[in-house]
Amino acid sequence: MCGIVGYLGEREVVPLLIDGLRKMEYRGYDSAGVVVVRDHALAAVKAEGKLDRLVERLAQHPLHGLYGLGHTRWATHGAPSERNAHPVLDSRRRLALIHNGIIENFLELKRRLIGEGFTFSSDTDTEVVANLISSYLDGDLHAAVERARRELEGLYAFAVVSAESPEGEIIAVRQGPPLILGRGQEGRNEQFLASDPAALLAYTRDVVFLENGDLARLRRGSIEIWDKGGQPIERPTQRLNWDPIQAEKGGYKHFMLKEIHEQPQALQDTFGGRVDFETGEIHFDTLHLDRPTAAGLSRIHVLACGTSWHAALIGKFMIEELARLPVEVDYGSEYRYRDPIVDSSVLALGVSQSGETADTLSAMEAAKERGARLFAICNVLGSQATRISEGVVYTHAGPEIGVASTKAFTTQLVAFYQFALYLRQMRGMALEPAHLQALAHLPQAVTQALEQEQHLEEMARRHFRAENFLYLGRGINYPIALEGALKLKEISYIHAEGYPAGEMKHGPIALIDEHLPVVAIATGARVFDKVKSNMQEVKARDGKVIALTDRDPADLGVQVDEVIRVPRVHELLQPIVNVVPLQLLAYFIGLRRGADVDQPRNLAKSVTVE
Ligand code: AGP
Repeated sequence: MCGIVGYLGEREVVPLLIDGLRKMEYRGYDSAGVVVVRDHALAAVKAEGKLDRLVERLAQHPLHGLYGLGHTRWATHGAPSERNAHPVLDSRRRLALIHNGIIENFLELKRRLIGEGFTFSSDTDTEVVANLISSYLDGDLHAAVERARRELEGLYAFAVVSAESPEGEIIAVRQGPPLILGRGQEGRNEQFLASDPAALLAYTRDVVFLENGDLARLRRGSIEIWDKGGQPIERPTQRLNWDPIQAEKGGYKHFMLKEIHEQPQALQDTFGGRVDFETGEIHFDTLHLDRPTAAGLSRIHVLACGTSWHAALIGKFMIEELARLPVEVDYGSEYRYRDPIVDSSVLALGVSQSGETADTLSAMEAAKERGARLFAICNVLGSQATRISEGVVYTHAGPEIGVASTKAFTTQLVAFYQFALYLRQMRGMALEPAHLQALAHLPQAVTQALEQEQHLEEMARRHFRAENFLYLGRGINYPIALEGALKLKEISYIHAEGYPAGEMKHGPIALIDEHLPVVAIATGARVFDKVKSNMQEVKARDGKVIALTDRDPADLGVQVDEVIRVPRVHELLQPIVNVVPLQLLAYFIGLRRGADVDQPRNLAKSVTVE
């Protein structure tokens, strides 16, 4: 979704805004803009497209001042254009506003405001908020925003500045998408705000996560917060444990490639400190389930979207096998509309890298309202998913900047494995040493899989012109076929489909010919023979088989066209190793096709609207 940033202090504001927007550009890159308040005048510069276009425009029209706002947009209402770019000013040019989210009742408000003489120069829902606040502005921006927000429906986070404010102030409101405030360091008289902690890391580690319904006023010497009832309230200041370097490319050409290579360490960081190899026990410091509750659970509902949903499908295998608990996996966007059967014996588990995906959050809320115990697997400290849950298994992947999820996915799988072992333990079943040993070997196995990089770059050179791809997997690797296909779609815009290998003969086999590359995941013991016959079915129709396998090609028992070798690990952890070459294949094919692999078209890192 959009990225919003604000600063108020003693430093030149524009370089800080641009730096913050650069850190959040993965959230949306349809247009960008900044506004600066100086001598009670508003000055804004905007540009369609990537942030660099705005930087060029600012070089021609430099702005100076000590406080202002910045925005990078992912279009929902109003096509990507300069006319619809933020900051948006009210038609009387008294204030400027930046917004992330959707105002659901903007049309009826717009009609009323037009009746009051306001005019509109964009197609955005955002301009309605600017004019609505302006309609109430009578020297007190806080009071005007307080009145206006009571009339807004939808999920939104916005910040506003006014030329009429006696002293520098920024007013910000959160109702849904994230909004974080940053406190100046070492006696610096400054305040920050942003949609994402990564945008603030270079300036402060002391942040305040606003809750839904909060309204904040930032002034040089203070941060004041009011709750949804308009009552003053204190919110805790938290210290961020990420270092700014993590949010840089570290010498890699793209964040995606850097994050693919960070997986061995991210996996180690995610299970390290939770597995007591001495006692053979699993411990979580941010989640606790007592034994009676664990024993009393009837089922688990896992709720997620996109790549996190693929992780959930694999989590189902792990939990059902290790903890013998039935698991239902639902798309966040579908769950509450199917009226699920939930009671207090159900554990609902929301899975989200960002912790801000609106569809997943609304499904989590729906399960909680129906009485389920709510937990989360999440990568972002302080995000909404972690705040509405009674326990969290954090994936310690660090900031994931590339829009295509890679290290967050594999750390979600290792988090699921640990959670499944924890449930097993709390339900009175012993953990076998092999279960824990399997974890210890994982980072090394992934490092080995990464050594295929050059081989996959060459493979990409042979296949980047393909118009379609088919990925086949069985059992616990069917979701890896889905994930491999999703990565290729996201990064290269090639149409790709992941399919259960056994299902191919019931339809997709009609697609097979010499032009369709078919990636078949043939690892492990449980279903290998079945996948072998599925590869033979493809070869029988002159299809091109790329076998991803943990065996010597000579032992495959079928003549395939190309092979991707991966090391063998525990069957339940094999998907983590198997997905790595598929991430690299998608990366190199996307690169060959000239796609923007870190910021693919039409996508956004966390989708904070339904
Ligand atoms: C994956 O590469 C995509 N970025 C997308 O499918 C993503 O997984 C989905 O939007 C869910 O995001 P979340 O994990 O932050 O909730």
